[in-house]
Amino acid sequence: MTLSKESLPAPSRRSVVTAAGVVSLAAALAACGEGGDGKDKSAPAGAQKPDDVEEPGGAAGAALAKTSEIPVGGGKIFKEEGVVVTQPTKGEFKAFSNRCTHKQCPVTSVEGGTINCPCHGSKFDIADGSVKESPAPKPLPAAKISVDGDSITLA
Ligand code: FES
Repeated sequence: MTLSKESLPAPSRRSVVTAAGVVSLAAALAACGEGGDGKDKSAPAGAQKPDDVEEPGGAAGAALAKTSEIPVGGGKIFKEEGVVVTQPTKGEFKAFSNRCTHKQCPVTSVEGGTINCPCHGSKFDIADGSVKESPAPKPLPAAKISVDGDSITLA
């Protein structure tokens, strides 16, 4: 007696597709599962950060500028460090975050006694970061600097 093709229990096309779909779904879940596999997803063992690697932008203690670079009654934007340094009156230096408090655009100019955001027109006072023109809802946060002689550094 020979077995005919019809007598073998062949899976229907639908059941094959469904099984493949389940396998794909399971693989996808395993790939993006959070903590389900018990593995630590943090840095690999032995990959500690060396002490001498600087954080990008705003490195404390880094020389930022010479005082002579900051115009009296104006200021200068340090995009990399994320700060604006101003000199409202001669010898008085202030620093603020360069991120507008409206929608976080970086400010792009210091003119006319204000730090200006190009996105929606907010303006901030160079002396205290207060809002001079909305829509910004609050002042620019102050940043810490120190002035030593003619050198300005991030504190
Ligand atoms: Fe600066 Fe809107 S993000 S005014």
